[in-house]
Amino acid sequence: APRAEAAVARPWWHHRRSELLALAEAQAPCYVYDEGTLRGQLEALRRLSSVDRIFYALKANDHPDVLRVFHEAGLGFECVSAGELEHVRTLFPELAPERLLFTPNFAPADEYRRGFELGAFVTLDNLHPLEAWPELFRNRNVLVRFDPGRGDGHHRYVRTAGAQSKFGIAPAQAKRLRELADRLGLRIVGLHAHVGSGILLPETWAETALFLAELAETYFPDVRYLDVGGGLGVPERTGAPGLDLEAVEAHLHRFKTAHPRFELWLEPGRFLVAEAGVLLARVTQVKEKGGARYAGVETGMNSLIRPALYGAYHEIVNLTRLDAPATQTVDVVGPICETGDVLGHGRRLPDTREGDVLLIAQAGAYGAVMSSHYNRRPPAREVFLPVGASAAVSPTPENAASV
Ligand code: LLP
Repeated sequence: APRAEAAVARPWWHHRRSELLALAEAQAPCYVYDEGTLRGQLEALRRLSSVDRIFYALKANDHPDVLRVFHEAGLGFECVSAGELEHVRTLFPELAPERLLFTPNFAPADEYRRGFELGAFVTLDNLHPLEAWPELFRNRNVLVRFDPGRGDGHHRYVRTAGAQSKFGIAPAQAKRLRELADRLGLRIVGLHAHVGSGILLPETWAETALFLAELAETYFPDVRYLDVGGGLGVPERTGAPGLDLEAVEAHLHRFKTAHPRFELWLEPGRFLVAEAGVLLARVTQVKEKGGARYAGVETGMNSLIRPALYGAYHEIVNLTRLDAPATQTVDVVGPICETGDVLGHGRRLPDTREGDVLLIAQAGAYGAVMSSHYNRRPPAREVFLPVGASAAVSPTPENAASV
């Protein structure tokens, strides 16, 4: 009998290699998003049967075709700015307002006004808006974000709870909030907490729900919705263990059984899009200096800032020589004038030459959305690869402008 191969499935880009090479030829540097992988992640999340509504956090990836997949699947959208609200509305003018969740942070009054105008669920994370702009909130329904006191995540910059974080209201202010709300006829219909991003501990979301349920039961009798945030992590390296969704569901189910009156909401970004995206960049020059070897590519931190900002790990392969044995250890660097412009340190690659296409994996979340024009280098464009498409993928209109 054939020996059972390692159970680790190869990432999608192994199967679509020739299409990717053709794309790179015409369009690199570019992000490529695989529709099949987006759908697979969506399927996986749907197995969380205790979750009543999912709002996709479009800050992670706001490409129109990506949003269309989630729109068709019936997801809502979590927006953090007026710009994100307008983006969604322009793409889906007929979207039911209850599929919009507006969760801004230190936003000006106008943006809350816009959120209400659109009929979105609006989330407060400070008492300031109620004290400073009471007329805006009179007789409204809102959600309120609380700080559970302890954050989590892949880096300290993305832990969004606890004394060091600017997010959420302290539970000690619940009573004051209740008084302000009563005075304004404001109904608090939901509570929210988001502890951070890139979390692999399956009990996280049930713990958040419990924290919010206790607050609701003590202070806010009108609460129906508990939004337990996003933050669902993905493995950085191929084959590393990911988030155990069955365990997540088991914890949530236990919570739901004990607290049946609440609807549970989730607002994932990364989990849905990270693996679906890769960044393709051609090697411009190679170099050896002081015992180190460098492979320079045509784009760097201006397209993908995560390694520079968080020390994030992204797997890098030489797509042109995917099956060749690794023979060298290189730093993969971009063309930007900063020492931090490194996409990967000490990577094992095959003999790599000018013109080779390097693939930077797990780049579908917080890649293109965080890019910049630093050094006046246009960041990588974005290409959506539909299920079953051929290599003849043309630029999308918004990309065509920059071609
Ligand atoms: N909800 C709220 C209120 C959030 O602040 C965030 C992310 C999410 C949901 C979605 O989190 P996710 O499921 O994607 O982890 N730029 C960083 C991540 C920043 C996350 C910001 N907030 C990175 O590249 O890792």
